[in-house]
Amino acid sequence: MATAAIDERLAEGLAGHGLEGFDVAYVLGSGLGAFAEGLEDSIEVPFEDVDGMPASSVPGHAGRFVLGTLGGVRVLVQQGRVHLYEGRHPAEVTASVRAFARLGCRALLLTNAAGGLDPDWSLPCLMRITDHVNLQGSAPLKHSERGHGTPYHPAMGEALVEAAAAGDVELKSGVYLGLSGPAYETPAEIGYFARCGIQAVGMSTVAEAAAAHAVGMRVAGLSCITNPGAGLAAGPLSHDEVVEAGAAIASIAGRLLAEAGPRLVAASTD
Ligand code: HPA
Repeated sequence: MATAAIDERLAEGLAGHGLEGFDVAYVLGSGLGAFAEGLEDSIEVPFEDVDGMPASSVPGHAGRFVLGTLGGVRVLVQQGRVHLYEGRHPAEVTASVRAFARLGCRALLLTNAAGGLDPDWSLPCLMRITDHVNLQGSAPLKHSERGHGTPYHPAMGEALVEAAAAGDVELKSGVYLGLSGPAYETPAEIGYFARCGIQAVGMSTVAEAAAAHAVGMRVAGLSCITNPGAGLAAGPLSHDEVVEAGAAIASIAGRLLAEAGPRLVAASTD
């Protein structure tokens, strides 16, 4: 599958709907979509109307783009994403962030829902991703691309920390582990990852972060830790529980996302 063809087509598709000229892009995971309703002068376009955008089949992912103004900057919100576990190719999973870069956007905030591995954190909570471990088992970069160092830019991380302070939002920080899913982890896996020093596990973000970094964007990552990792609390995990916990913290996350916009834009230019 030719990566360039997909993201080039998608960039044209986005521009064709007026979804261009934005300073920062937010990719919102399960449960965090309500934030987009607070954007001013917004236009909304469902994924299925945009040529080149693969549709998401995950409940809790609205599947639309919203472009609007927030704190004086233009923000494109991608509400929902496609995942490897939906049978998508890494070129499809990374197509939108590559398209954003093609449209001249330099700042990217990736959010996700994740399981938490630190028993001392009270959940749900928000975590700045300081770095990630990619155990998805597929390569998000094209053979001509090189990934150097962490995809998460320190100035973008600092922008999140400042936004949290301004919005009076508690923000943890830690390492996110990306798995391909769709099954949740076993308790043995969670125990293993915890011993490896991982703070959060999820099924997205790592491919988009690596690709966006490789094409020159500055990336920030935010996990909404919705549940303790498997085996750390009684009972099995469910996607409904993840969506509910995301909804419970959505307004707090919204404050952080609103404060973050202008700060991320400032951090994406020297
Ligand atoms: N594991 C993997 N992905 C997740 C989890 C989890 O516990 N919670 C939300 N997304």
